[in-house]
Amino acid sequence: MSTQYKKHIIFTGGSSGIGYEATKVLAADPETHIVVLSRSPPKDLPDNVEFHKFDLSDPESVRSCAEWWPYPPADAFVGCAGIGGTPKVTYIQDGIEQTFATNHLGHALLIFLLNDRGAFAPNARISFVGSSLHDPENPSSLKPY
Ligand SMILES: NC(=O)c1ccc[n+]([C@@H]2O[C@H](COP(=O)([O-])OP(=O)(O)OC[C@H]3O[C@@H](n4cnc5c(N)ncnc54)[C@H](OP(=O)(O)O)[C@@H]3O)[C@@H](O)[C@H]2O)c1
Repeated sequence: MSTQYKKHIIFTGGSSGIGYEATKVLAADPETHIVVLSRSPPKDLPDNVEFHKFDLSDPESVRSCAEWWPYPPADAFVGCAGIGGTPKVTYIQDGIEQTFATNHLGHALLIFLLNDRGAFAPNARISFVGSSLHDPENPSSLKPY
């Protein structure tokens, strides 16, 4: 499948919100292949967008996603998946706060594992979408958007 494309982009959180809109724009180039990583698939996107299920808050899911990457080295990575403004603090495995695990630790683990596997082209662009709501020290991060 991938050989017909000139570029590969890894896009976390391309299934909804601003990530979905950005994926649509990137997918307008038929020579670009985009792999959307999230828990649920995006709807109504062209054939050059592929979905791969993963959960950033689950280290085993992140590890298996990094091991799965079957394509030539990616030209870009966009880390747009994220949560924020959750109404209460929730701790997941190992006592890690969920927003921090999802937005920061999961993305860091994914990037390092993909890099170790040589899954990025030498000049690959790595970008993240940030928000003050990702900061656990920010009192607003506990309020809904
Ligand atoms: N909207 C704004 O005004 C705004 C402003 C500044 C910054 N931001 C930041 O931009 C990013 C996207 O915001 P949005 O408003 O577009 O939010 P959204 O519509 O809720 O989209 C969040 C995306 O992250 C994915 N995601 C969430 N938890 C995940 C997990 N555990 N594993 C894998 N994927 C996960 C979701 O997919 P699944 O649910 O399918 O997993 C979805 O694709 C967030 O980081 C947000 O903080 C947004």
